Amino acid sequence: MNSNILKQLPQNSYTLVRRIGEAADAQGVSVYLAGGVVRDLFLKRDNLDLDFVVEGDAIAFARKAAGILKAPIKVYKDFGTATIVLTDGRALDFATAREETYAAPGRLPEVRRGSIHEDLFRRDFTVNAMGLWINQSRWAQVVDPFGGLKDLRAKTIRVLHETSFEDDATRILRAIRFEQRFGFRIEPQTLKLLKRRLARRSGDHVSAQRFFNEFKKILMEEKVLPALKRMKQLRAEKLLHPDFVLNLKVLKTVQSRFDSVKKKYDLSNDHRWKVFLMALLEGQREETIAAFLKPLSLTAHDCKSFAQANSAIDFLSKLCKNSLSPSGVYGVLKPLAPEQCIYLLCRTSRAQVLRRLDRFLKKDQFVTLAIDGNDVRALGATGAKIGEVLKKTLDCKIDTGLKSKQQEFNFVRGLLS
Ligand code: CTP
Repeated sequence: MNSNILKQLPQNSYTLVRRIGEAADAQGVSVYLAGGVVRDLFLKRDNLDLDFVVEGDAIAFARKAAGILKAPIKVYKDFGTATIVLTDGRALDFATAREETYAAPGRLPEVRRGSIHEDLFRRDFTVNAMGLWINQSRWAQVVDPFGGLKDLRAKTIRVLHETSFEDDATRILRAIRFEQRFGFRIEPQTLKLLKRRLARRSGDHVSAQRFFNEFKKILMEEKVLPALKRMKQLRAEKLLHPDFVLNLKVLKTVQSRFDSVKKKYDLSNDHRWKVFLMALLEGQREETIAAFLKPLSLTAHDCKSFAQANSAIDFLSKLCKNSLSPSGVYGVLKPLAPEQCIYLLCRTSRAQVLRRLDRFLKKDQFVTLAIDGNDVRALGATGAKIGEVLKKTLDCKIDTGLKSKQQEFNFVRGLLS
């Protein structure tokens, strides 16, 4: 492969890497780009994450680099890493080259400062274990001790050593993700090790959250279905919860509609994994859903939406009723999280339901009253009646459009007379 590989970076990243290379020379340390960005440069795929490995003190070096780039820096002392955040939002990550040893499978590793080779050796797959030297004298020299380039050409996902999946079982999900993303194949010996690790359920210290973080990344992949099919084939969903069943039927439907819904409602990427997870949770046993969600750090809001995955059909059947008024639709949808409404949009093809969801999302969910409880009390209502009157007024506003505060007052007077 050629020495001009770094030229493939977007111009602004290229200039940045050059300047960091000059800073490395000035500081007398060796600095490398490493991991996913190197892999993607050789694959000619865009990757905006610039991860630097420093043979030496990464924090001290990153401070110098931040000074040169006049950019703020965040330091993570415990991890020996630092991040420079540029004004355009790009982040440059600096890590001290380190050697890791695992005291016990799945435990967090013991970390010591090391060489670039040792740093690459602790990584998941050969294709992710390459570095590119960026010091001026060694500009763009490839560091590829484990045959990453050869495996890239052979379209192969290969672990670096026999205990890789024992050290970190989340790599099982990563192997599947990269295999499907790049159209590669998990190499036979690696597959054997992966299956062996999957067959052994006990003695695992990897947290549910770490598996979930990797699973979320699978749900964010363009080729989410092939990756999930592969998970199912290998029964890797058991890593999420022993009773998790991967039923892809609902997901297929939801996925086929998601892109057009995303465009129409200008959704963020965060919606994607949430909506797809709801599709996968629909149909799981309630106890499995609860047990799956329990150890995860999710917001209360997300937790509630996922826990209600099995109610989607009920919500949709309520939205199907011919007699349902816009305020009735509001009553069904208002308690739901935005992602749940998006999910329902992807979950049905009934024109009437889609129209109702659309009206709620674009208009009715934002309707508020100009009057409040004090106004209603002043007109003579007390206790629970106040809430009741306010609700009826809001329903009327949604259904017939009370146009002014005065009209709301008149409506309340009518109710109380
Ligand atoms: N890595 C690893 N084992 C893990 C997670 C990460 O060895 N369990 C290493 C790999 O070298 C990987 C790098 O850390 O390339 C960065 O990890 P991450 O950002 O998760 O992956 P990328 O390879 O950058 O993939 P993506 O393009 O999906 O961000």
